[in-house]
Amino acid sequence: MGGGAAMSVGRDALVAAAREAAGKAYAPYSDFPVGAALAFEDGTVVTGANVENASYGLSLCAETVAVASAMKQGLRGGLVALAVVGGAGGADGAAVVTPCGRCRQVLLELAQLGSTDPLVWFGEGADAAHARLSELLPHAFGPATLA
Ligand code: THU
Repeated sequence: MGGGAAMSVGRDALVAAAREAAGKAYAPYSDFPVGAALAFEDGTVVTGANVENASYGLSLCAETVAVASAMKQGLRGGLVALAVVGGAGGADGAAVVTPCGRCRQVLLELAQLGSTDPLVWFGEGADAAHARLSELLPHAFGPATLA
């Protein structure tokens, strides 16, 4: 499988980190906070939240912010899992959020640099589910294509 090293943080902790990150979202236009938490094979967790803009189309998704933060820290691969949560949270406010199309491509860049196929966790309650990034973005174009 693509990743899953022993030190990797578990699903519950990753979802909790994503939920905490969602609390830092800047989402005044959609009122839809999203948090993402990336887990690396050495145990590192890097989070992100969506950052919206008055020019709506310039808004940044939580996953993209998290990838940018990780790469700015020098991380280049080792991405084994991630969690995405969205909505207000709590008993009835959470939504099942899978990474948008652009974010799937952005995530692939970091994953493929380390030849991992991260497990993507989404949903928080009974609707919790997961898929590999390769399932969310099949037949992908990435850095390996250009190598
Ligand atoms: N959003 C994310 O942060 N990640 C996704 O994968 C889906 C959408 C954000 C973008 C926007 O700020 C808000 O959710 C509503 O679309």
